Amino acid sequence: MKILITYFSGTGNTAFVAEKLAECLRAAEPRQGRPAATNHTISCTPVERVGDPELTATDIVVLGFPIYACDAPAPIYEFVRRSVPAPSRATSAPATPVVLFCTKGMVAGSALRRLTRAMTLTRFRVAAGVTILMAGSDALLTSRRGGWYHR
Ligand SMILES: Cc1cc2nc3c(=O)[nH]c(=O)nc-3n(C[C@H](O)[C@H](O)[C@H](O)COP(=O)(O)O)c2cc1C
Repeated sequence: MKILITYFSGTGNTAFVAEKLAECLRAAEPRQGRPAATNHTISCTPVERVGDPELTATDIVVLGFPIYACDAPAPIYEFVRRSVPAPSRATSAPATPVVLFCTKGMVAGSALRRLTRAMTLTRFRVAAGVTILMAGSDALLTSRRGGWYHR
């Protein structure tokens, strides 16, 4: 099975989670009655670098992003727009499942719901979504350089 982990990350939190997830999946031990993770191909790429060939050859997509103002950031919506098949390329193939994850400093608002709705026209079907609480990076914009928050 081909698993594509793709993400947008402004300051590194989401990239960290995406790479950690890829590392854990690659290292997963085979469990009784389950195939070894090594039977899977796991790739981890920033969303800006994902092209059509990778998307069409993928069985599961994990899409990660930071919450910006209780929503997903523009590069994620750009990715969603790119994933709407042209009418001439419409297919009856089943939609590819997507697992959404977002990193946040405090509250995600309706970001997952809004993004799930935006993805209804794409080749993807949102199967699950999780939010992950991280150290918020927005305070870096306003806090004193060298102060406790920067450390
Ligand atoms: C411009 C900006 C807006 C943000 N808005 C929110 C927000 O509405 N809710 C929240 O919980 N975190 C918010 N954050 C914090 C980020 O979502 C959080 O730090 C995230 O993990 C950053 O991920 P990244 O390092 O991959 O960019 C914001 C951060 C920035 C820079």
